[in-house]
Amino acid sequence: MFIMKHQITFFPSQLSLTVDASETVLESARRQGFHVPRACDAGVCHLCQARLLSGQARHKHSNLTLDASAGAHEPVFCCLLYPLSDLHLEIERVLAPGQLPSQEVTAKIHAIEQAAPDVKIVQLLLPAGKKIEYYGGQYLQILLDSENVAAFSIANAPRNDRTVELHIREAPDSDSYTLLAKRLQVGELLRVSLPHGETTRFRWQGAEKLLFIAASTGYSQFKAILEEMAALGDERPVTLYWGARTARDLYRHDAIKSFAFLHPHLKYIPVVSDQPEWPARKGLVHQQVIKDLNGDFSGWTLVCGGSPAMVYTTFDDFVAAGMQPEQMISDVFDYAPRDPG
Ligand code: FES
Repeated sequence: MFIMKHQITFFPSQLSLTVDASETVLESARRQGFHVPRACDAGVCHLCQARLLSGQARHKHSNLTLDASAGAHEPVFCCLLYPLSDLHLEIERVLAPGQLPSQEVTAKIHAIEQAAPDVKIVQLLLPAGKKIEYYGGQYLQILLDSENVAAFSIANAPRNDRTVELHIREAPDSDSYTLLAKRLQVGELLRVSLPHGETTRFRWQGAEKLLFIAASTGYSQFKAILEEMAALGDERPVTLYWGARTARDLYRHDAIKSFAFLHPHLKYIPVVSDQPEWPARKGLVHQQVIKDLNGDFSGWTLVCGGSPAMVYTTFDDFVAAGMQPEQMISDVFDYAPRDPG
């Protein structure tokens, strides 16, 4: 039997899914693993209320046709809405499959280690009695004041002791770093929001082999992902390139070497750019990747962690070298989209 399908896009999340015309928007979204606020599935609780921004739909009980082009954007209930065309719906708190809701909590600085001359490893203690979940590869935001937010990858897979680890590199030119530096003391309370970011295992579920490219403290994101993969018994081939200016800046070189020794599916390749006597690969990390792959990106899913400038340079140079744009994943594409002009 032929069933008409339509595309639904939720705003502001911009999440999209294809739905059957024979199901309500809520039924279809839930069946596909999306989270849409709901309680009654009957038009009573109002939790699934949305605004119809574009398209046409049918009301479950009255058979009334709702048409966004008819005038003011109609409030509708996703649990009572059958699509008659592609729809744009405005509704808050819709989450993609596997996506976790972010929350704001107060965390305490538990410990600080000077890992390199300009890198501190900070352990934050999250509050007790709150279920705070995240996936390896996600990041948190430190809410410094009403205007300044500092974002850092969470450098560990979830632990039982409520701590999360951040690798913080000095950035004296950044206003948010200047504000944060004054508060980097054991015992200090910080307001944090977590989790954020979509660079999680759900993005590369079907990938055969993974290539992680980290610049400086971008390593922290991959440390968490690798810990999570190990905890899940995921032994897909992974190659991690970690680039820094000097060997001293590879502040967890020995630790990741030991991890790779214990997990043979991981190949770790350090690259140093400003230390001529470094005995292994030298230069910019992404250029080293291109050289090593020799233009053959086939089969790789690439994940890149670093500053927006580093990530976009890597992306452009990889595409010029033969990578398909969709092969690369990075949170930078989401939180620092490139100016189309
Ligand atoms: S789920 Fe209650 S109104 Fe839709």
